[in-house]
Amino acid sequence: MRILIVDDEEVLRDVLDAVLRREGFDVVLESTGEEALSLLDGEGEIDLVILDIMLPGISGIDTLRAIRISSPHLPVIIITAFSSIDGAIEAMKHGAFHYIPKPFKNDEVILTVNKALEQRRLSSENERLKAELSERYAYSNIIGKSEAMRKVFELIRLSAPSRSNILIAGESGTGKELVAKAIHHASPRARMAFVTVNSGSLPPELLESSLFGHMKGAFTGAIATKRGLFEVADGGSIFLDEICNINLETQAKLLRVIQEKEFMRLGSVETVKVDVRIIAASNADLTKLMRDHQFREDLFYRLNVITIPLPPLRRKREDIPLLIAHFLEKYSEENKRKAPQVTPETMRILMDHSWPGNVRELENAIERAVVLCTGDRITPELLPDYLRYPAATDQPAMVVPADGLSLKDSVSRYERTMIMQSLELANGVQKKAAELLQLKPSTLNEMMKRLGIHTKPAPVEDEVPSL
Ligand SMILES: Nc1ncnc2c1ncn2[C@@H]1O[C@H](COP(=O)(O)OP(=O)(O)OP(=O)(O)O)[C@@H](O)[C@H]1O
Ligand SMILES: [Mg+2]
Repeated sequence: MRILIVDDEEVLRDVLDAVLRREGFDVVLESTGEEALSLLDGEGEIDLVILDIMLPGISGIDTLRAIRISSPHLPVIIITAFSSIDGAIEAMKHGAFHYIPKPFKNDEVILTVNKALEQRRLSSENERLKAELSERYAYSNIIGKSEAMRKVFELIRLSAPSRSNILIAGESGTGKELVAKAIHHASPRARMAFVTVNSGSLPPELLESSLFGHMKGAFTGAIATKRGLFEVADGGSIFLDEICNINLETQAKLLRVIQEKEFMRLGSVETVKVDVRIIAASNADLTKLMRDHQFREDLFYRLNVITIPLPPLRRKREDIPLLIAHFLEKYSEENKRKAPQVTPETMRILMDHSWPGNVRELENAIERAVVLCTGDRITPELLPDYLRYPAATDQPAMVVPADGLSLKDSVSRYERTMIMQSLELANGVQKKAAELLQLKPSTLNEMMKRLGIHTKPAPVEDEVPSL
């Protein structure tokens, strides 16, 4: 990281130079605004500017203005005499990141510099994700760039134009309904109806009457003739959600619609012809149900012309940051606010979680955080407790799943959980937390660094004058 210091007072320059070098920064020194601007024009490899407001030649404010125009993302920290608070306010109005009044403490400078650099990193990371989102990874509103999701996009693209039945398989919350809609909307049937049938939630008789309709008097309570959803969906697509829950008798009737493209309303002997594309979804393994004689083999093969498998979120972790950026945008817009940024620690927690509820669970966590967030950053406190302090029993996995796991990740997760809990018990006092864990404080400190666990630094924002 390279910091440019612009100050005409040699003593001050040297103090800042020494303080920042000790922290491991590269430092470039200039004594006037003109010199600073020409340096920035020339090489530009500067990550942050510390600028004295009282300069000979062009003023600090004018230098600041020029920097804001030529390098709008470059953070600038202003140094002012304690007496000239007006100058500081003026500078903040012109986009300075923060100001440091003279005389200052070294710690204060370091804290402000680190804060500005983190802010810059967060916003450029945010920009990058936004750009990535708008690029090629979104298929309508399905987000993902993992290998598994690319395959899903490819299958949607290839299968949408056809009339073939499709089976979407995946755990709860993996986006089955989203994919079903995307297929419909990318198909020649897009202008016609997309009808969803919640196959699992209805008792068999009601399910049949809602699918196929009924004649007046077909059963007690059938007071009028009613069209079924297959008729409503004529020309369009029907989405049979949770198809694994349909009983064998109804399965036989479904098979008939698929094969003959016709059916009878309940209580009628007349056949109704329809042209409907069937998209089915299941969160259970249909082949297993088939082996157990719970699902008809002939129906399975009719539905399973094209299968789109949706991976669980824990198998596509590289999509998590993109999904977070997407949901931040979505819920910020919905709540009419500027999208907050996710701090690195929050991001690590979100990356580490196993997401049994998949994308839906992640979406809920982000929605909650956006709604509860009063500042511009999503800190771990805005996450539900169960994410911050996963119960020792369910995380990390104590059983190796059939498809394996990363032992290193699991161990880190376990360490993180224990450390976070001890810090909480110790009210953030590291020495006490180390005692609780029977560690040397220096060992705990090293582990925290490795795992990226920070204890909160003193808030710097409080010093910013309200403008
Ligand atoms: N790849 C994705 N990109 C953006 N949003 C997604 C993605 N996958 C899922 N979602 C969102 O997650 C939520 C759950 O998705 P959806 O309802 O399609 O899941 P599902 O597989 O049908 O779940 P269930 O089996 O519980 O019905 C929805 O709000 C959906 O918009
Ligand atoms: Mg669903």
